[in-house]
Amino acid sequence: MLNVEELNQYYGQSHTLWDLDLEVPAGQCTCVMGRNGVGKTTLMKAIMGEVAISSGSIRYDGEIDLTRKPIEERPRLGIGYVPQGRQIFPLLTVEENLRTGLAARGDGVKRIPERVHELFPVLEEMKHRRGGDLSGGQQQQLAIGRALVIEPRLLILDEPGEGIQPNIVTQIGEVIRRLIREDGLTVLLVEQKLPFARKFADRFAIIDRGRRVAGGGIDALSDALIKEHLTV
Ligand SMILES: Nc1ncnc2c1ncn2[C@@H]1O[C@H](COP(=O)(O)OP(=O)(O)OP(=O)(O)O)[C@@H](O)[C@H]1O
Ligand SMILES: [Mg+2]
Repeated sequence: MLNVEELNQYYGQSHTLWDLDLEVPAGQCTCVMGRNGVGKTTLMKAIMGEVAISSGSIRYDGEIDLTRKPIEERPRLGIGYVPQGRQIFPLLTVEENLRTGLAARGDGVKRIPERVHELFPVLEEMKHRRGGDLSGGQQQQLAIGRALVIEPRLLILDEPGEGIQPNIVTQIGEVIRRLIREDGLTVLLVEQKLPFARKFADRFAIIDRGRRVAGGGIDALSDALIKEHLTV
């Protein structure tokens, strides 16, 4: 579904991603892991076109070369993105926040798909509340809902469990599995929490100092790898 090959990225003089490969097979959840500051978010931003890359390729759906597409093409191609830190609009209502996602659709549909409320009933219940008045967990659900209004085929989430209550983290994991099973989505997730990755991901890739150092089926995520690349 998504193939990243030999990606190199710099912030100014600082070489952040090094010959990085990542494969995201269709119909599965691939989890990118790694300690703070190793380049996980930079990789997601490179995929989304938010940071420029210096070399390498990002292919989507077999043929499409994302590196040559403008940012606004991603949602039209069916790529939804939930950035780290949620970035919802605190002064807009829940419904207005969801509507901002609609603008990115290529087909001019103006309705929020029913499915969003089915997956996150709390967004229906709270539709007139301001985004900033929601709890952290509800804001994360809103951010995911906003990414889902384009009815994506690939959903990218950057640390959706960061700083929210464990029960909502579990709910989010369950929604991810439903999206894969019932809607045929492919999911690319950044997540540092091991139990979450083990429970909800099919595959993993570990990044250490900008390089992909390990990856495979989630069962291959060994204690030795964890000790070497994930624990502080
Ligand atoms: N806009 C920027 N300009 C310069 N350096 C940056 C910029 N954004 C990130 N960096 C640096 O690039 C490196 C990778 O950052 P990145 O945010 O991709 O890491 P991360 O793995 O997502 O970390 P975290 O787990 O804290 O979210 C870090 O050293 C960071 O300080
Ligand atoms: Mg990050």
